[in-house]
Parts: sequence; structure tokens; C-alpha cells
Amino acid sequence: TSIQPFDMVLFGGTGDLVMRKLLPALYHQHQDGYLPADGRIICLGRSQPDQAAYVAMAEEAARRYLGDYFNDKDWAEFAARLLYLRLDAQDRAAYATLADTLNQYPDHIRVFYLATAPNLFAGICEHLAAVGLNKGGARVVLEKPLGHDLASSQAINAQVGRYFKESQIYRIDHYLGKEAVQNLLALRFGNTLFEPLWRREWIRDVQVTVTEQVGVESRGDFYDKAGALRDMIQNHLLQLLCIIAMEPPASIDPDAVRDEKLKILRALRPFGPHDVATKAVRGQYRAGATGGKPVIGYQDEQGIAPGSKTETFVALKAEIDTWRWAGVPFYLRTGKRMQERLAEIVINFREVPHSIFGLPPEAHTTNRLVIQLQPEESVKLYLLAKQPGDRMKLRSVHLDLDFDETFKTRRPDAYERLLTDVIHGRLTLFMRRDELDAAWKWVEPILDAWEQSDDAPKSYTAGTWGPAASSALLSRDGFCWHEEG
Ligand code: BG6
Repeated sequence: TSIQPFDMVLFGGTGDLVMRKLLPALYHQHQDGYLPADGRIICLGRSQPDQAAYVAMAEEAARRYLGDYFNDKDWAEFAARLLYLRLDAQDRAAYATLADTLNQYPDHIRVFYLATAPNLFAGICEHLAAVGLNKGGARVVLEKPLGHDLASSQAINAQVGRYFKESQIYRIDHYLGKEAVQNLLALRFGNTLFEPLWRREWIRDVQVTVTEQVGVESRGDFYDKAGALRDMIQNHLLQLLCIIAMEPPASIDPDAVRDEKLKILRALRPFGPHDVATKAVRGQYRAGATGGKPVIGYQDEQGIAPGSKTETFVALKAEIDTWRWAGVPFYLRTGKRMQERLAEIVINFREVPHSIFGLPPEAHTTNRLVIQLQPEESVKLYLLAKQPGDRMKLRSVHLDLDFDETFKTRRPDAYERLLTDVIHGRLTLFMRRDELDAAWKWVEPILDAWEQSDDAPKSYTAGTWGPAASSALLSRDGFCWHEEG
């Protein structure tokens, strides 16, 4: 479907997210012919003096992040959509200029993308409302982190909610925009094959892994106050868990899907103080090597408080108290400076009830469905097959769906999908306020227990799969992480 004329206003226009993700995403959409001729991108910031300087900055970033997709002709056309306004988001008077600019096109769909620190959200929304820019079809997009804990997240939502209706608010979790995540929906609800098996009777355990090779990069200041539980688990990994575990929604409508996700978040068994010691592992990387290059430890990174106890790795055992999932552990794991950049969902099915082949009941003899999100997108189904020869010897083999191979087209970045969804007014892949509350409620006891504990995170060497306690979390239940078995 073609996109209606729009004005996309980017607060934090000179920031990293805009340069690294949002402008490249919009450029791709432009290049592929999806943006209407009268779609404008209005970039707000302070650090560039004028339009020419801003466009030069954006071009430099675009060359870096777009690689081979960058070309001068498309860039020139795309840059003509950019309009830079030098404006302080906290200066109420400046919003009159913004309103004048937007009111040139009263029919355009208006999107306000707040790619700023969350402490500015309330002020920005208030100032937008003061000049009437919250009216009609206006949409506001909120980037994470949406708060630091339940109370601060509720405060942000309440403040934004004063000026924008829930149906105007798009809370981004970019994991939901990833092609592979939407493919998980397609896999589960576009096929009859999986649904009868998608339950405790047939599934033994589920593993969700999102690991990175990078360290904290230039975000030490921010990261040291956040940590992996807030940065990744509270949002991305819990959202993945919801998509795996939710009941089939009656439709793809925003509330149909979000109601089902919410039920899962609310059914997560709460962590008591004792559970944190037995079902949660936090780690922090020390010096090591990634990709063959030596790297420094977390404590030596820039912006990290001396003696910091911030976790750069988390492994958790989550349990969902519903008929479908009772007794099925969901192991969640994420970390920086890990051995590989990997994002995958592993569904381990149960053993056959009785083996006529005399196979020992070992992990590798179970069926396993592996949905990889990163670095490649693929779905692999592991089965046992007979090895050629005169003996009945079984071996684990897999059916392999490789999205690059199958579809042979460019895979759009998560932000491309999500930005167009905002313009179209499609809320399904965005988080509702009550989802956010439920997610914070669940992680908060873990955060509190760690904060009050005298123990430091378990240290792990950069470039490994994390602390030994992570393997122990599963081996205690008689399981192991996918790459270990
Ligand atoms: C962000 C986190 O939300 O997700 C970052 O703040 C992390 O710390 C990033 O690096 C990972 O996203 P992706 O898409 O690269 O897996």
C-alpha cells in the first residue's frame, strides 16, 4: 500500500540513533520507492549550525552505514526531503517555529519521533500540545529506555498520556520489527504443523539467546546505570518470549495481539528473593579477546564507575504459570563481549516416549526447532534420520530454511518496517502501556535483589559464552545451552 504524505519529525536529530538507524532506514524506503513525493523528514537538533552542515553530517553517516546502497543520485533526492531546524527541545518558544513549518501542510500525517533521553519526553509532549501539534492523526514514537524501573516508567507514560491518547503512542521495541520475529508469527499462525505441539506435552524447554560481540562502545555512561537486565531482558527478550508463548490471537489487530502478550507477561512466575540466587545469573566481562583481537575488561571501559557491579551478562530461568506452559522452563540469556553475535530461539521437544532403536535419552536425540534472527535469518528443524548403511544407526540432521536463499531479496532493517508502520498507523508491533508495566513488574525484584546483594556479578572472559554459572543454570535441570549440545 502506498504511504500517505507525511512529516516525520526527529527529535534528537543529530544523535546516534538517527544517524545510524533512522535516516538509513528512511533512505532505503525512499530508494525502494515507498516514500510519497511529499514525505518530509524534519530533523531537530542543536549541535549543527544550519541545514548545509546537517546534510553534510547526515551524508557522511549515510555513506558509512549504507555501504553499497549509497549512491549520489538517490542521496541527492533523499536529502531534498530533509529539513533541519536548529531547536532546543526544552525551549517552549521554539515550538512556534516547528508549528509554522508543519502547518504548511495541514493534511500531512505527523509523526514525532522522540530519539532523545527519556527525561525530555514529558516536556516535549507538553510543548507540542501547547501549539496544538498533538491533534488529529498526530503520532508520537517513544524510544527506549522507557524508564529505569516501574515507577519511572509509569511516570513517563502518565506524562505522555496527558497529551497523547494511547492510540497515538508508539513505543518502539525494535526487536519486533525484525523480519525473523515476524516470521515467527508466520510460522506459528500460518501453519497447522506447530500449534498442536506448541505446549508442555511436547516441548521440554525453550531457550532465547541474544549475544553480542561488541562491548559497551561509547555508551559507558548510560550503560553503567542500566545493565543488561534493563537494556535487553526487560524489553527485547521478554517480547520474544511473548511471541513464542502467547495464545493464538483472534486477529493481527493491535489489541488482539497485545492482549495475548500481556497475558503471558502477567503469567510469568514472580521471582522471590531466594529465586534470584537459583534462577538468575549476572556476569560482567573482564579483559579477553573477540574476533582474534584483545579487548579490555568492563571496569576499564570509559564512563564506568570504579568497582561497578553493573551486569553485562544475564541468564534467567523464566516460568509461565499457564496450562500450556506449566513446567516448561524458558531460559533467557543475553550478554556483551560474548563469543559470537547471535540471536536465536531454540525450542527443544521432548524425547520419544519409547525408543525402539535403543538410543540413550541424550539431548541431541530430541527434535529441535531453531529460529535464528542474527547474524543470518533461518529456521532449522532438527530430526533424527537413518544413516546410510546396513545398521539402523540414527543421526541428527536438519531441514533448513535460509531466508536469503529462499527469497533472494534485501532484508529490510527493523526500523524500516516500524517507521512505515507508524506512518500507516499500524500499532501491532508496538508495546502498549500495560505491557510495559507488566514487564517492569517482573524484572524489578531481580534488580532489587542484585542491588541489595553484596556479591559482585560473576566475571567472565570477554569472547566466551559467559560465566560458568550460566551453564550450571541449565545443567541443574539436566539441560544445556544449544551450542553446548
Ligand atoms: C539496544 C541496546 O536496544 O539493542 C543495545 O540498547 C544493543 O545495547 C542493541 O546493542 C542490540 O540490537 P541489535 O538489533 O543489534 O541486536
